[in-house]
Amino acid sequence: MQTGASWETVREFRFTDADFNTVCRLLHGRVGIFLSSVKRELVYSRLVRRVRVLKKSNFSDYLEELQEPDSPEWQEFINALTTNLTSFFREPHHFSLLAEQVASIGEHPVTLWCAACSTGEEAYSMAIVMAELFGSLTPPVSILASDVDTAVIRKAQAGIYEVSQVNKIPDAQLRKYFLKGNGFPDGKVRVHPELAQMITFRQINLLDTTWPIHGGMDAIFCRNVMIYFDKETQLAILEKFSPLLRPEGLLYAGHSESFYHAAHLFKLRGKTVYTPVKK
Ligand SMILES: C[S@@+](CC[C@H](N)C(=O)[O-])C[C@H]1O[C@@H](n2cnc3c(N)ncnc32)[C@H](O)[C@@H]1O
Repeated sequence: MQTGASWETVREFRFTDADFNTVCRLLHGRVGIFLSSVKRELVYSRLVRRVRVLKKSNFSDYLEELQEPDSPEWQEFINALTTNLTSFFREPHHFSLLAEQVASIGEHPVTLWCAACSTGEEAYSMAIVMAELFGSLTPPVSILASDVDTAVIRKAQAGIYEVSQVNKIPDAQLRKYFLKGNGFPDGKVRVHPELAQMITFRQINLLDTTWPIHGGMDAIFCRNVMIYFDKETQLAILEKFSPLLRPEGLLYAGHSESFYHAAHLFKLRGKTVYTPVKK
């Protein structure tokens, strides 16, 4: 790097304020994610690979690709800009509550939705809880797991994880619900295919006006995604969640998400867990 040169002058591609504002507007309009100005460098680093792949000479030319609403580049753009941090049994209190909730239903089959499943750890954690509760790899439970990012859905469907990602799961459960060895790469485990059968993965954008989903859900896990949306977008999503849940169903939110602004739709039932307001 040249001494004294500004960051602007040493960047591989020109990325102006106007380009950053266009990225923010397009992303917010399509998936609801709000980017603050501190995310500018992050946006550059996440999108620069696409600029190179498409052999564009700057960001402005790259963003032209998104003028066409059906351009295949849209999915690449979304996949590049989502934040997919997740882990098995993240925010563990929710999984104990899920077991208690389902144990008290006494009515089967159970239907659960993991509405921002990222690379699958959250949905598989739900499946493990259900398998433990029913004492079977194939309990009467169906889990829909969805995300807007197609790359993470592919990873979730593969169900292959580093050993380091599952090291907090007790050994007895690891042996029951994961496979390793048998020609499998060292240092990796694979979710047991029978457990995986409980889950259907599909792409769903929470911002879409309609979702291909029937009601009668016992629980919706929508954790650590609403934080990226503004209150208006959150409200529109909560309005659509409410009729999908059974009256005694539960909405599980992320640790820093609260829905006080939707008190007419959901009331707090426990730590970041909500129940629909009875109509
Ligand atoms: C930080 S991860 C959270 C994963 C998981 N729920 C958890 O709490 O560990 C947020 C996920 O939300 C997804 N996401 C962002 N906008 C979305 C939208 N409009 N519709 C569906 N999923 C979305 C991202 O692709 C990402 O995988």
